[in-house]
Amino acid sequence: MNPDTVMPDVEALVTEATNAIAEATTTEEIRSVGAAVTGKKSPLAEASRALGQMDPEDRKVLGQRLGEARGVVEAALESRRDELRYAELAAEMAASRLDLTEYVPGSVPGPMARGHLSLVTQTRDSLEDVFVGMGFEVAEGPEIETDWYNFGALNIPPAHPARGMWDTFYLHLGEPESTLLRTHTSPVQIHLMEQAVLNGTLPIHAVMPGRCYRRDTPDARHLAVFHQIEGLVVDRGITFADLAGTIETFTRAYFGPDIHSRLRPAFFPFTEPSAEFEVTCAICRGEGCRTCSQTGWIELGGCGMVDPAVFASVGIDADEWTGFAFGFGIDRCAQMRHQIADMRALIENDVRFLRQF
Ligand code: PHE
Repeated sequence: MNPDTVMPDVEALVTEATNAIAEATTTEEIRSVGAAVTGKKSPLAEASRALGQMDPEDRKVLGQRLGEARGVVEAALESRRDELRYAELAAEMAASRLDLTEYVPGSVPGPMARGHLSLVTQTRDSLEDVFVGMGFEVAEGPEIETDWYNFGALNIPPAHPARGMWDTFYLHLGEPESTLLRTHTSPVQIHLMEQAVLNGTLPIHAVMPGRCYRRDTPDARHLAVFHQIEGLVVDRGITFADLAGTIETFTRAYFGPDIHSRLRPAFFPFTEPSAEFEVTCAICRGEGCRTCSQTGWIELGGCGMVDPAVFASVGIDADEWTGFAFGFGIDRCAQMRHQIADMRALIENDVRFLRQF
């Protein structure tokens, strides 16, 4: 048989098929168009069947062209199918949406104004972004803790003087264990390490943001309800240099090149050695002002190498694993980033303040 007589116009077949695909407007339609353009009785399938009667050279050329054509048609089908499926789903959701806003006509002057995320939430999100970019995962833990997670496992036994610094609001005192509002996000370290030991998933590289409570009297830098972001790395061969490098990298990524960080020796029962992590006061750029008590620096939080006693309390072998931890204030970060002289503005609900962010 003369091959020319059966050599179909592959281009035309593809155009015809893709036009039909573009014209489909429902998932129902796209299903039948799909059968028509790629099914057993489709022109493409017929052309493939005709290959059998051709001589080997032509068969090779046409076979390849038909294969490519099928690829193009199938891709067009799939993307149109997704498009239609999505549109139908969106329409379905819009139709079945329950309006939970209690709007009494006439009770609000004009259309209801739309709010936005609070500055603290926005700050938490961008801090998470910076750390995720550095390879950390994000985890969370409960705001109500037992004595063991907030203190005991962190190497702060009942009579330890460090408890004074973190004395807190107890929900329940006594046996079997007191429950309390956590004073820091450090107990989430314990939860993560316990889980990792249980599931055999060490190492850990995680940040843990969340709300904390202290019996502090609010002032320009303190709130009794505030937010921290904790960091924990447990791996082989981790050193203090890794900690210092992480803090510096974070400071520059988050605050920009003219804010610096410094570490000052400090004490925390759950890290050894420990340091306080401070950044240039963004209100006065280091000159000294009311917000930074004339020091030019603002303390963001604490950090250090995970104390072997903490590893012992969760059953991690301190000869094999080392790690560092840090914890600092999200509200403080918002304050420094946006130069808010008095942190109490964050909770005063003055819309003239909140609207700026
Ligand atoms: N939890 C400490 C605080 O709230 C900060 C800290 C976290 C210190 C991790 C060392 C390591 O003050």
